Amino acid sequence: MKLFIDTANVADIREAAELGAVGGATTNPTLIAREGRRFEDVIAEISEIVEGPVFAEVVSSDHEGMVSEAEKLAAIRENVVIKIPMCSEGLKAVKILAGRNIKTNMTLVFSPAQALLAALAGASYVSPFLGRLDDIGSEGIGLIRDIVAVFSHMEKRPEIIAASIRSPMHVIDAAKAGCDIATVPPKVIWQMISHPLTDSGIAKFMKDWDAHTARQ
Ligand code: G3P
Repeated sequence: MKLFIDTANVADIREAAELGAVGGATTNPTLIAREGRRFEDVIAEISEIVEGPVFAEVVSSDHEGMVSEAEKLAAIRENVVIKIPMCSEGLKAVKILAGRNIKTNMTLVFSPAQALLAALAGASYVSPFLGRLDDIGSEGIGLIRDIVAVFSHMEKRPEIIAASIRSPMHVIDAAKAGCDIATVPPKVIWQMISHPLTDSGIAKFMKDWDAHTARQ
């Protein structure tokens, strides 16, 4: 399974890229707004750092507006992929963009039926949101399992991006469920590095080594 980073913060993307942990970067309007910078500038900068796909989301509510935004964003760099929210207008936009060879990621997917429609419209990726389902007492990982099962019968299918990840356990559950990609906030990537036994193990090795060198 590939890991993408779920942020528009360039410093965090650079840090994660140094770890070899960034196969792509996903943003959304909330994450872009948090940075307080011009949308196109942020996407251009991220798409220079990250070799894999960089996801930029449209904000129009009609398919004509979505398509027009998508064409401008896709022109920033060849690795830019367009995120389109799941709705009728979004599906129309995905279909048109697929016909123009512009890759899309259907986002805000909360049911296998929505994922199936996105696949049929020609989306290259679908993004089911685990955390937001868990937040309302539904089992997010169950949605991933269902989408994997539905897509297993399709000849040509989108890649599944587990989104709205809240913990390292979410990442591993998504991998075990057969997800292609998890897009992970920086905080969760840093959490994935740490384990208390690793920390205490390193501290003990250092202490023993210092004692050994002091005796020489
Ligand atoms: O970018 C889509 C998704 O990952 C957002 O996650 O934490 O806002 O539910 P969250």
